[in-house]
Amino acid sequence: MLIDSYDRVVDYLRISVTERCNFRCNYCMPEKPFSWVPKENLLSFEELFEFIKIAIDEGVKKIRITGGEPLLREDLDRFIKMIYDYKPSIDLAMTTNAFLLKGVAQRLKDAGLKRINVSIDTLKPEVAQEIAGKNVLKNVLAGVDEALAVGLKVKVNMVPMKTVNAGDIVEVLEYCRERGMSIRFIEYMENAHAKAEIKGLKSPELLAILGEKYKFSDDGFDGSSPSHYYTMDDGYRFGIIEPYEDDFCKQCNRIRLTAEGKLIPCLYFDEAMSIAEAIKRGDIKGAALVLKEVVRTKPEKNRWGGEDGESSNRAFYETGG
Ligand code: 5AD
Ligand code: SF4
Repeated sequence: MLIDSYDRVVDYLRISVTERCNFRCNYCMPEKPFSWVPKENLLSFEELFEFIKIAIDEGVKKIRITGGEPLLREDLDRFIKMIYDYKPSIDLAMTTNAFLLKGVAQRLKDAGLKRINVSIDTLKPEVAQEIAGKNVLKNVLAGVDEALAVGLKVKVNMVPMKTVNAGDIVEVLEYCRERGMSIRFIEYMENAHAKAEIKGLKSPELLAILGEKYKFSDDGFDGSSPSHYYTMDDGYRFGIIEPYEDDFCKQCNRIRLTAEGKLIPCLYFDEAMSIAEAIKRGDIKGAALVLKEVVRTKPEKNRWGGEDGESSNRAFYETGG
């Protein structure tokens, strides 16, 4: 079992298979990302899989494939099947923008994928265009429909932003509820790569908007999920991710691997260690030692909302959020 210095069990690995993306979401990526990892530095699926086997053997129970946009990487279903075949009981999920999902959802499901998370920040095509930098909504919704049709579980993420999509919160929630998809509102996390003028809605502001229309009870946290949950009168549950809150990091169970093999203990901080050299040498013991060291050095807390409104240098498109 992997246990960090604050007694948290680390059993969740997020793997970014590419940091490239076909969207330019204003909260995530500048129009011209200033550094793409050269393609030759990317680990192959076989190399990533060598590390995944180690992580699973050490106790990882949940794996999420992220990007950038993971569907930009060819043959992703082959990679998913490699993981599934090694451990069919693994909780195997993917975060995608869903733009390329239509036409491949069934293949991904057949390969062993169980769940996906998708961003729907608005249901207005022009607002979606303003956020993502291109006209994306129709493809995204078609991708989501197909995912539901083939039996993938779908969770929706929405980042509510003042003056951009704050007016769309109820509409997006209703859209999700009608389709049996859960929704999580993610407080905008300040970072060096986002558009400077963005102002995110904090949890109390969001709850005030929802409170005008709905009654709900506060359920607090549930297991190792980062969401603070609320249940509405009819039993529908929504979550809010509040990384600025003091106790946010208490139940954190995750580490992240980038497409070039950097293993990252916390989304907020720049610290990372590479497993690439060890994996390329076939040094399984060496890679396992790096994994244990990264778990050992996992910080107690992020610093969102910390000293003087400090913000993170980490690119969400490198780590997959
Ligand atoms: N703040 C909050 N959430 C973000 N995401 C990306 N960038 C940010 C940010 N700055 C979320 C998106 C997406 C997921 C991959 O990460 O909602 O669904
Ligand atoms: Fe948007 Fe996700 Fe792409 Fe970032 S990685 S630009 S959040 S779709």
